[in-house]
Amino acid sequence: MGVLLANFIPEDKIEEIKNAADIVEVVSEYVLLKKTGRNYNGLCPFHSEKTPSFTVSPEKQIFHCFGCSTGGNVFSFLMKQDGLSFPESVRFLARRYGIDLPRPEMTGKMRQQVSEREQLYKINRDAMDFFHGKLVGGSQGDKAMVYLKRRGFSREIIDRFYLGYAPDAWDALLNYLKHKRVPAEMIEKAGLVIARKDKNGFYDRFRNRIIFPILNMSRQTVGFGGRVMDDSLPKYLNSPETPVYNKRRLLYGLYAARNKCREEGSVYIVEGYFDQLALYQRGVENAAATLGTALTPEHIHLMKGFVKRAVLIFDSDEAGLKASERSVGMFVSEGVEVHVVMLPKGHDPDSYISEFGPEAFYKLAGNALEVMSFLMTTAEKKHGLSVNGKLAILEDLRRPLASIEDVNPRQLYIKELSERLGIDESAVLEKVRETIAVLKREHEIQARRAERFTPPAESMTIHKKRAQKSRAENRLEQQIVAMMLQYPEMLLEIEKSNVLDYFMDNTLLFIGKLILEHPPGTEKGISNLMSMVDDAEKRNILASLSIKEEMWNQRDCRKIISKLISHSPKRHEISLKAQISAAERENNQDLVLKLLGELQKITVLNRKQMNDVLKEH
Ligand code: UTP
Ligand code: MN
Repeated sequence: MGVLLANFIPEDKIEEIKNAADIVEVVSEYVLLKKTGRNYNGLCPFHSEKTPSFTVSPEKQIFHCFGCSTGGNVFSFLMKQDGLSFPESVRFLARRYGIDLPRPEMTGKMRQQVSEREQLYKINRDAMDFFHGKLVGGSQGDKAMVYLKRRGFSREIIDRFYLGYAPDAWDALLNYLKHKRVPAEMIEKAGLVIARKDKNGFYDRFRNRIIFPILNMSRQTVGFGGRVMDDSLPKYLNSPETPVYNKRRLLYGLYAARNKCREEGSVYIVEGYFDQLALYQRGVENAAATLGTALTPEHIHLMKGFVKRAVLIFDSDEAGLKASERSVGMFVSEGVEVHVVMLPKGHDPDSYISEFGPEAFYKLAGNALEVMSFLMTTAEKKHGLSVNGKLAILEDLRRPLASIEDVNPRQLYIKELSERLGIDESAVLEKVRETIAVLKREHEIQARRAERFTPPAESMTIHKKRAQKSRAENRLEQQIVAMMLQYPEMLLEIEKSNVLDYFMDNTLLFIGKLILEHPPGTEKGISNLMSMVDDAEKRNILASLSIKEEMWNQRDCRKIISKLISHSPKRHEISLKAQISAAERENNQDLVLKLLGELQKITVLNRKQMNDVLKEH
């Protein structure tokens, strides 16, 4: 990070951006924050939770989650939330706060150093401009323009969403990007061209299609969808998975929906590009589309910062039912309500709102059933309320019910179902319990299978656990680092006492030394300190130790320091060695033996602790 930084963004610019950017403002775009005392609280965007443990400190300009221990400053927040690199997060904030960054002419060597992801964003952006230009300027795109107009899309929508047209040629985009000196391999990596079978060059993936650029929440262009203008197949082509395109983590149009979502507290989830566009054009701006895949927990993470409710809109019964069943547990554990709308037969959101208008759409959406009620109603309609019908309903609902991890909502739903069916609640409960056991077994089998295939990820979690455990054993060391961050009056004494030399935890030692080298001084200094730490785990610890407010006073601080020194096994080792030398000098063999035995015990212990610490790194 340091190298890239020095090459492309001058330090004083980073400083300027850091001073201009307000972490509360930036985080608020993603997380609903409430002021509580000096800090702000909200639901953590990085793990599933329903009671807020995500904390932002405006004074220190840092964030920390007490639930999952993620933390950092405004740059690390964006890096984590939007998957940006450090320079990307700096550029993003510069744009946002109107700070000009010098854009140096890049030499070949520098070009190599720019992260691959940034190159991919740039290529996609260029491709987007190319496609859009083909649609709105010149004659090549006339046919596509006529198609879009015929389907009722305005020029304003076309421009706002950068819709485009891919010319009817094998190398239109390829040549355009080659002229811009983009290496063909990178264009392939962006998914825009495909290697020829004979390995002799590349050809355009998108040809003679309407183009829908896909932008992430930071408005970077990450991929494309392309539709034919007739009945040929496949109807849609999409970008393949690339380092910047992952359809499990992207929703089409969500970046544009964000403000309206926040106003309304809800988002409409639709299935098609045209559905999102048609809704947007008619004022229903809080809609986003899945990209030909089922909803994932990552999708919910994207939106849960600014909505309380998601309304899933489906056009076919079967698909809608399956998707609703699968999403129940997911949404409940994220604390987002889900409602389901089934459109009249033969309609999708685009055709419905085009034919009946936004009022009718809002009316339909207003009558949307909460997802469990929807599933119950659907099952009742399907099976009827005969004895066999009731059993079939129970059979249909046991999996969605079992997928709800939280006991309270699950219990409420079980009660509702038993009342609707007139079955004893305990009978329903029993059925659901059985299913929970089955699901659990299935999970275990899956996990074991995954473990066998991905040992590195597994050992990561073991590492993490061990690190956490040994960190808990290092409470005194943590207290001292927290003191250094929150009560800088002690820094000089800490340095003089050499207390850091007694630290067993390498991470805490690293942070302690860093603080001594760069005393934070002002509260914003902590955020600066964080920029010097490349390792996310260290940044998390730094944030967690800065944000937990304690009342410090000199006397207690001194106590903690001397307690650590006197309790330190290292200290004990040093003092034992001194006693042994003394006993040897006095020729007291018994004492020497006894002390040696003690020393051995202690060194084994120390070494074991050292090993644990070493294994963490
Ligand atoms: P639909 O077939 O419902 O199309 O696919 P649509 O969005 O209503 O488009 P029009 O109105 O027929 O023009 C819904 C979504 O599923 C994905 C696309 O994301 C599409 O928007 N899809 C569909 C594909 O990825 N590939 C396909 O071949 C078809
Ligand atoms: Mn459609």
